[in-house]
Amino acid sequence: MALISLSTRLGPLELRSPLIAASGTVGSVWEWADVADVSPYGAAVAKSVSPTPWLGRPAPRVAPTTVGMLNGIGIQNPGIEAWALTMEPYIATAEVPVWGSAVGEDVHGFSNVAKRLDAAGVAAVEVNLSCPNLEDGQIFSFDARLSAEVVEAVAGAVSVPVGAKLSPNTPDIVAVADACRAAGADFVVLTNTALGFGLSLEDRRPLLSGGVGGYSGPGLKPIALRSVYEVSQALPGLPIVGCGGVTTGRDVLEFLVAGAAAVEAGTIHFAEPRAGRRIMKEVQTEMKRLKVSSVSELVGTLEQW
Ligand SMILES: Cc1cc2nc3c(=O)[nH]c(=O)nc-3n(C[C@H](O)[C@H](O)[C@H](O)COP(=O)(O)O)c2cc1C
Repeated sequence: MALISLSTRLGPLELRSPLIAASGTVGSVWEWADVADVSPYGAAVAKSVSPTPWLGRPAPRVAPTTVGMLNGIGIQNPGIEAWALTMEPYIATAEVPVWGSAVGEDVHGFSNVAKRLDAAGVAAVEVNLSCPNLEDGQIFSFDARLSAEVVEAVAGAVSVPVGAKLSPNTPDIVAVADACRAAGADFVVLTNTALGFGLSLEDRRPLLSGGVGGYSGPGLKPIALRSVYEVSQALPGLPIVGCGGVTTGRDVLEFLVAGAAAVEAGTIHFAEPRAGRRIMKEVQTEMKRLKVSSVSELVGTLEQW
């Protein structure tokens, strides 16, 4: 069989691999790149960053669950100015395209951060419309109009491609994805963590100081796949990055077939920082088994019963 082609087209972006490291699970990328081989990845997304420093929530803010984990970090980050100071020199020499992730409390906050991310050299900007850990509990992606306003402002502020990252709890995810597309998003990322909760019987307290947090890991896969499936069926031209519970090469292929052009893996990196090499080996093994020689032959090839 001919050589396997792993490159994939995500709207205006050409990625060398369909595997992307998800925001918040590989730090600011460089810490992780120190221990992991980044060559199997098409991109790595840095932790979301806000206009000013955010302290995040007090401990406990991560907890394992029966399957996967809960987190309530609250997007602790140093703010965009400090971020750009340390990240700009790294991004220029990184061995993987680095994407930025913008978060804010309002439209201007998002667009100011995105502008600075772009100036620091990121290859794309994800707009984190879906974090469940902000103080007032507001999730932008629950509201199509608000999401569109943010995306429009960000798309107008940057020269690089823009992706809208949505929550799997978004009531009508097709409507919100469509609004983001119309507002200028080049792709959507489906999805962020799902709202989750856990408690300790011994302490009679929530596992996270903030109570409700974000649930991620293998249990999220069917929920994220559902989002990818619904959006790709309803909006066939919209490039999608699948994300949720990816731990194996087979998971990557399932997201591709459901309609994603690329796939992010997050939680797996905490247990296995070098997961990318294994996952992409498995992707190639599975592609050979399925007699498929390029990633593009898989994207959106799902058939109905
Ligand atoms: C500890 C932790 C921190 C995260 N921080 C962010 C973040 O800052 N921005 C963001 O967009 N997503 C963040 N996420 C969500 C992941 O990027 C990803 O969307 C989610 O975990 C689902 O993928 P997974 O099941 O492969 O982990 C975080 C996830 C975890 C577990």
